[in-house]
Amino acid sequence: MFAWLRDHGIIERNVILMGVLTLITVSIGGLAQIVPLFAVETTIERVAGVRPYTPLELRGRDIYIREGCYNCHSQMVRPFRDELERYGHYSLAAESMYDHPFQWGSKRTGPDLARVGGRYSDDWQAAHLRSPRALVPASIMPPYAFLDRPLDVSDVQSRMRALRAVGVPYTDEMIANAVADLRAQATPDADAAAFQGRYARARQAAFDGNPGVVTEMDALVAYLQMLGTLVDFRDVTPAQLRQP
Ligand code: HEC
Repeated sequence: MFAWLRDHGIIERNVILMGVLTLITVSIGGLAQIVPLFAVETTIERVAGVRPYTPLELRGRDIYIREGCYNCHSQMVRPFRDELERYGHYSLAAESMYDHPFQWGSKRTGPDLARVGGRYSDDWQAAHLRSPRALVPASIMPPYAFLDRPLDVSDVQSRMRALRAVGVPYTDEMIANAVADLRAQATPDADAAAFQGRYARARQAAFDGNPGVVTEMDALVAYLQMLGTLVDFRDVTPAQLRQP
């Protein structure tokens, strides 16, 4: 019945036939790994609350990347008990769905920042960035006092358009109003109903303590204070699994 199996010598003596059959065998394994990736979009569950970053938060995120904060800080709470107790609910895929590139990281010289939003006051964040050792004497984090300089807002619209090209749902309205929205968020008592309508749960504040000028510090603190706060975990986690 399996007499043809005894003829494998034919394959072994013909390098081209051997090559072709090897290629077929290897591609089956390759396809099994690659094809599911095309459907990866469908594995990210939509979660209420996750929205594109406001223009100010977006510029803060750019500064975070520019300054290399990711070299010391990860942004992904893993589903292990010690991490849940220290940082809170483990990260959901949806929480970084608008991150291009994502900031999960794997290096934790400092703590994970995925849920740092709201953990400290704006004043603490700004003071800590200006001089980490003034607040945490043993800190090895470098000081970033130079961030108290005016924020360059000239290219925020291009940045939003670039993100839209890779799938972030910025509307024409959001892009058209980017600079006004950015200033509204950094001005604590600006009447900004339109801005609030475009970006749910966006907090307005003088993030760096100085409402006069929009600085890089404003942007970075606005970004940090938003991290991990968009999802209301009472909506996504069954009661019996919830952290106390
Ligand atoms: C050389 C490594 C290093 C770099 C670079 C670095 N940090 Fe840190 N960071 C630390 C360490 C260590 C701590 C813990 C001690 C402390 O609070 O200062 C920390 C703490 C923090 C905290 C407080 C977190 C918490 O939960 O207590 C924040 C927020 C923070 N860093 C933000 C940043 C930002 C934003 C940048 C980039 C502008 C940055 N860090 C760059 C090492 C670093």
